[in-house]
Amino acid sequence: MALQRPKGTQDHLPDGSPKLRLDISARAFRYVTDTAAQVLERAGAAFIETPMFEEAELVKRGVGGSTDIVRKEMFMVYYFGDHGGYVLRPEGTAGLVRAYLENGLKQLPAPFKLWTHGPMFRAERQQRGRLRQFHQVDYEVLGSADPLVDAEAIWLMVQVVQALGLKGVEVKLGSIGDPEDRETYNAYLRGLFGAHVERLSDDSKDRLERNPMRILDSKSQEDQELIAELSVRPMLDFLGAEAEAHFAAVRGFLDAWNVAYTVDPSIVRGLDYYRRTAWELHHAHIGAKSALGGGGRYDGLAKELGGSDTPGIGWAFGVERILIAMEEEGLSLPAAPQPQLYVAALDAGHVPMAAQVALELRSDFWADFGYKAQKPGNAFREGERRGAAYVALIGSDEAAAGTVALKNMSTGEQQSVKVADLAAVLGASALSSRS
Ligand code: HAM
Repeated sequence: MALQRPKGTQDHLPDGSPKLRLDISARAFRYVTDTAAQVLERAGAAFIETPMFEEAELVKRGVGGSTDIVRKEMFMVYYFGDHGGYVLRPEGTAGLVRAYLENGLKQLPAPFKLWTHGPMFRAERQQRGRLRQFHQVDYEVLGSADPLVDAEAIWLMVQVVQALGLKGVEVKLGSIGDPEDRETYNAYLRGLFGAHVERLSDDSKDRLERNPMRILDSKSQEDQELIAELSVRPMLDFLGAEAEAHFAAVRGFLDAWNVAYTVDPSIVRGLDYYRRTAWELHHAHIGAKSALGGGGRYDGLAKELGGSDTPGIGWAFGVERILIAMEEEGLSLPAAPQPQLYVAALDAGHVPMAAQVALELRSDFWADFGYKAQKPGNAFREGERRGAAYVALIGSDEAAAGTVALKNMSTGEQQSVKVADLAAVLGASALSSRS
């Protein structure tokens, strides 16, 4: 049997592929990242790219040793049989903060807004919208603890999904307080769950020691049943005065800008670096357990990574999940730009000229050519298959006169056009089709 792609990965296919779906369409991925680029760059965010693998230590310290991501889902990087202490990045934030610190970006005026997109890797059990290699669009702001920055980040996330045409999205907003608030909350959870240790899953017994809050986002059914039975009070009840005021300020901005959200007291997020504002973007068709995206403030992360104290906040959404949601809402991509010209030679001797005509036009137009001589009927069929606006034929008469026989594929009209005038004809038709 022919070799197949690894479990939990997808190929992103070109238009015309027999197995094409929106969530594996290469053009759809580009549409999402182009749309994000437009929205985020208008807000002053700079594009950045960081490596796809990082020191395991960075991910451990960043994402947190008690998270499922670090404990169960890391892909180690091996080379020549040797483990170099690297892992494939499971998310972008830790690497971006590392890059910010390492490259002196802190010297630039703050707050500094960054965005990126690319593949992330988590060894999860594959299901629809849950992959081992998935793609995120990620936005981060470093150097400000101002709640206005939080509100703008949430606003921008909503803007991107709206620009993509999605309607059924819901922002679920919460706060996970300051570290002291979390200490108090964890003490409360230890007391509560401590009395029922025997009913916790093995993972959660461990979480009870390390970070009881992680029990709340456990995927185990027995844990979730116990949580429901104990009517666990939410983190939101445990906010200190400062975190409470910060949360109120964020909500105030969102209300003033008419950003719809619901306060979700149960938001815990699956990464350890968060503090204060935390939110998720949900969609009816993705299911309650999975989010389209999520984000939050992470003021302690830079220091945790060995850098100087730098507040930060950001979000990421999963491109695959966005595309599944778009498909469910019946949204389609904007039409691909129309190919403009297909050039065919009527005999083998003129194939090089057909190639040259197409090559020269490519600086301004979409132009392709046939690699073998074609009869006019076949050339027109090929042009039609590609959706070309024009088909140009070159035979001995045209070659001698320095012309092509040009057929307008929508009107059927055919005329002899000098090669030197082709750019003007294509340019005029592009203009008229735009108006
Ligand atoms: P996250 O909630 O772990 O946050 O992931 C963000 C989004 O990535 C999820 O909502 C989901 O759409 C997508 N995603 C995560 N895992 C998978 C998977 N296995 N398959 C498909 N999609 C997935 C973060 O990663 C944070 N770095 C976000 C952030 C940025 N916080 C602050 N700045």
